[in-house]
Amino acid sequence: MSEVAVSAQTKLDVERVRADFPFLDELTNGTPVAFLDSAASSQKPRQMLETMNAFYETSYANVHRGVYRLAERATEALEGAREKVRALLNAPATREVIFLRNATEAINLVAYAWGLNNLGPGDLVVVTELEHHSNFVPWQYVARRTGATFRMIPLDDNGELRLEELDAIADEGQVKVVATGLVSNSLGTINPVDRLAAWAHDHGAIMVVDAAQAAPHRVVDVRALGCDFLAISAHKMCGPSGVGALWGKAELLERMEPFLVGGHMIRSVGVEETTWGELPHKYEAGTAPMAEAVGFGAAIDYLQGIGFEAIERHEHELAAYALDRLAELPWVTAYGPPADRRAGIVSFNVEGVHPHDVAQVLDFDNVAIRAGHHCCQPLMHKLGVPATNRASFYLYTTIAEVDRLVAGLHKVKEALG
Ligand SMILES: Cc1ncc(COP(=O)(O)O)c(C=O)c1O
Repeated sequence: MSEVAVSAQTKLDVERVRADFPFLDELTNGTPVAFLDSAASSQKPRQMLETMNAFYETSYANVHRGVYRLAERATEALEGAREKVRALLNAPATREVIFLRNATEAINLVAYAWGLNNLGPGDLVVVTELEHHSNFVPWQYVARRTGATFRMIPLDDNGELRLEELDAIADEGQVKVVATGLVSNSLGTINPVDRLAAWAHDHGAIMVVDAAQAAPHRVVDVRALGCDFLAISAHKMCGPSGVGALWGKAELLERMEPFLVGGHMIRSVGVEETTWGELPHKYEAGTAPMAEAVGFGAAIDYLQGIGFEAIERHEHELAAYALDRLAELPWVTAYGPPADRRAGIVSFNVEGVHPHDVAQVLDFDNVAIRAGHHCCQPLMHKLGVPATNRASFYLYTTIAEVDRLVAGLHKVKEALG
């Protein structure tokens, strides 16, 4: 396997990092794609791909059930990956880490398995105006099913939460669950989750954190955040698609009903009664995403080898640079908080040009950005736009790629503005 190119604690050497990513080998007119859509899904390093491949080649069998060597190796690899997720999140126990398809499924698990049995009329389910639909719709749906009241913490004009509204929200009923993202996928806003968790607990509520957009870029520590549940997706953090994880406090997971039922998650099955397996298996019905989980573990190793502080600093520099460059363009409106209070995500619009047309023109120059509502329609409503353009950065993004974005925007303005 290739070695990780950059050691922890050093400034990120972006050119060495880029050597790990095969997608950059494909050149158009001598240049690789400027991939500025990592918030949707990140590209993959060789180290992760090689680990998944080796698992398929040398250790593949169904896990937990077999007594033969291959099955034991596969089980060890899967459980090793679970331990890596635990360590990544500084979670107290590996049995609190549940492998699922993605962050959306993880949040649905909590909404269904906890929400349906713990919510009712007079209860408040609190999300934010900034949420990704994955942490909005499940709560809205479960609130409707149970008769609970669904409320949003509103945003200020910077796209930051108006915490001064919390008391007024709490006056409307019994706060039972607060569900918020740690980092916004649209604006890059970093939410004060630790403060919200303290507020939730003061009201006897649980705190659910969507860390899908945070875990790829910064240290996420469930104990420091003080939350009860936290969801992540591997595909946004150099891992494969098809696997994510839910961390939850054991005492809550133990008290909840399962979400999906069937094979693997049972203790015993009879005609009269079926009983559930121990954590984490109680929530892992069916064959696990085995190779994907192993890839997830390798992605975590890779990112930790680079160092989350170095990654965060690098992205912060890119975001600050991009915001400065966009501010030079009077025909561009950028949304969201100042660079020092956001992750490496920049949303903007070009005056008079639909975001899809902007993205299309940039694609002619092999600059890949996202255009749309970014699964944040309540936020778009607040911004008063149907859609925005979004450039999102990761450890392999360079300042030169931000320059390519800005050069492309000048072309957009000339052609369509
Ligand atoms: C903040 C946030 N939450 C949740 C999700 C959903 O992730 P997944 O599609 O992997 O379930 C995303 C994906 O864009 C996201 O950005």
